[in-house]
Amino acid sequence: TLAVHPEREGPAIDPTMYGVFFEDINNAADGGLYAELVRNRSFEFSPVDNAAYTPLTGWRTTAHGGATGTVRTVDDADRLNERNRTYLRLDLSGHGAPGSGYGVVNSGHGSGVAVRAGARYDFSVWARTDQRRGTRLTARLRDADGAPLSAPLTATVRGDRWTRYSGTLTAGATTSGARLAVTAEGGGVLRLDMVSLFPRDTYKGRRNGLRKDLAEKIAALEPGFLRFPGGCLVNTGSHQAYEAPTWERERSYQWKDTIGPVEQRAVNANFWGYHQSYGLGYYEYFQFAEDIGAMPLPVVPALVTGCGQNQATDDPALLRRHIQDTLDLIEFANGPVTSTWGRKRAEMGHPKPFGLTHLAVGNEENLPDAYFERFRQFRAAIEAEHPGVTVVGNSGPDDTGATFDRLWELNRQAGVALVDEHYYNSPQWFLENNERYDSYDRRGPKVFLGEYASRDNRFANALSEAAFMTGLERNADVVKLASYAPLLADTHENQWRPDMIWFDSTRSWGSTSYEVQKLFMNNTGDRVVPSRASGTPQLSAPITGAVGLSTWATAAAYDDVRVTAEDGTVLLGDDFSAGDGRWTRAAGRGTWSVRDGAFVQSDQAAQDTLVTAGDPAWRDYDLRVKATKQAG
Ligand code: AHR
Repeated sequence: TLAVHPEREGPAIDPTMYGVFFEDINNAADGGLYAELVRNRSFEFSPVDNAAYTPLTGWRTTAHGGATGTVRTVDDADRLNERNRTYLRLDLSGHGAPGSGYGVVNSGHGSGVAVRAGARYDFSVWARTDQRRGTRLTARLRDADGAPLSAPLTATVRGDRWTRYSGTLTAGATTSGARLAVTAEGGGVLRLDMVSLFPRDTYKGRRNGLRKDLAEKIAALEPGFLRFPGGCLVNTGSHQAYEAPTWERERSYQWKDTIGPVEQRAVNANFWGYHQSYGLGYYEYFQFAEDIGAMPLPVVPALVTGCGQNQATDDPALLRRHIQDTLDLIEFANGPVTSTWGRKRAEMGHPKPFGLTHLAVGNEENLPDAYFERFRQFRAAIEAEHPGVTVVGNSGPDDTGATFDRLWELNRQAGVALVDEHYYNSPQWFLENNERYDSYDRRGPKVFLGEYASRDNRFANALSEAAFMTGLERNADVVKLASYAPLLADTHENQWRPDMIWFDSTRSWGSTSYEVQKLFMNNTGDRVVPSRASGTPQLSAPITGAVGLSTWATAAAYDDVRVTAEDGTVLLGDDFSAGDGRWTRAAGRGTWSVRDGAFVQSDQAAQDTLVTAGDPAWRDYDLRVKATKQAG
């Protein structure tokens, strides 16, 4: 029975309540939302990003018509600029027949460079030559076997100083496996950098823009806000600010590295184990938020590293600099074109302010007091200069526990307006916690549920999330913002599951959770009508206790974990992470189940029976966990 009470006034629901959280995880930026088709366009890939990388990752040499030469990457005084340090040097030694060529081929992201027959692609490259009469350069789309997929685009490189050359290639066929070949004729030394190929057809036709199908799927959600750029991406790594020539990788995400001409932006190692070009940077995030009608909500590091690195940086001068950088960020977003940072925004093409109203300091903070000491200083400085900007606080990586309690206490004492909560749990947990916010203090800080998901991408997960969201909505006076996470995942290479939208080089599709998010975002009400359901079937003996092994810090030390009930039955949750302090979900460690009393890696069907909510077979188990230490 459903009793509805239209005569009683329920809480108002903000139009911004449901939003999206974009983090560059699972190749969400390069090879994902950022439409650049060339992988490692500036030869900056490095083993610091990933042990398997070299500056030539994504590239191989090619020759035709008898041309010869050698290729190497160089980081010396001839570099393009202080940030774009490594370039490609071609020593052209053999003059082949007319029309011959020696050079390099890029294999693109995932399965290759994805092109559509008849579509146009903007090619550009920075180049210089030591040949007085110039060097003839050719760019062309080819298939994996070298057969041409476009007419050649030619240019003559002149002069031994860096110059940008550009033109358009039209694809002659549709394929997800094209290659971009760049070859030169003649002799001498040719230097190349920033070899780029962009579809003309980006989202809203923006230059340096976004992959259309992915951006459209996000836009179709009609999100109220866009939280970016992370996540663990934001507050991990060192907090050293960029200063040439002490150029360093593995730094926390710093917005100033990510704006301006793309060839002058820094690059960085990504916490999730790959390279980030920063081609998709703060300007593009703000522009995207505006394009999809979402409130921008950036997250800046608080000089405390989280996500397993748990260390506070004790450097007052550096802290002052980060606080100033954050004030500059607000000026970049909101300042007049006459201000220093407002002018930079205008130079990039957006004289009108972006209208930033919310900004979060910190992500999943594990050191409550150290974090809060820094948070207070950020907040005081921001409120003094920009009283209209709401500074969002943090409650750590869990939905409960001592860190969570302490952080909430500190936020409450300081009168923080909004506190960011995160949790990833089983569908059962989401069903059982529908009333989580019913008892939250109405006079305390409001909640920004910045990350949540039930652990899998199956129908039962989406259903449990939808059920949970009715609880968020019923408490819309306390829960002000909520975003599922992560947003995007490349099928080819990913670090985290489940995810909302999946993609490969050409296709993308929403998960069942995507459909739930879309349903809520497309139909956000403006006020809750109080109602009560009675006679709802109860779950029979819901499972109690932890069934998921997700403590990645300890999981890293083990290579085999068994969870058995006393009667020998084995029962398990779904998320065992392992690795070197990062979530890796190595193959063979993802999902576990029981067969014949033995603990085996499950197939999805077995997993299904374990997580199906409402299954009358649910009962309590006493669990025993046996973990075998990794050899060595
Ligand atoms: O969403 C993936 C990760 O989960 C985020 O980077 C982090 O904040 C959380 O632990």
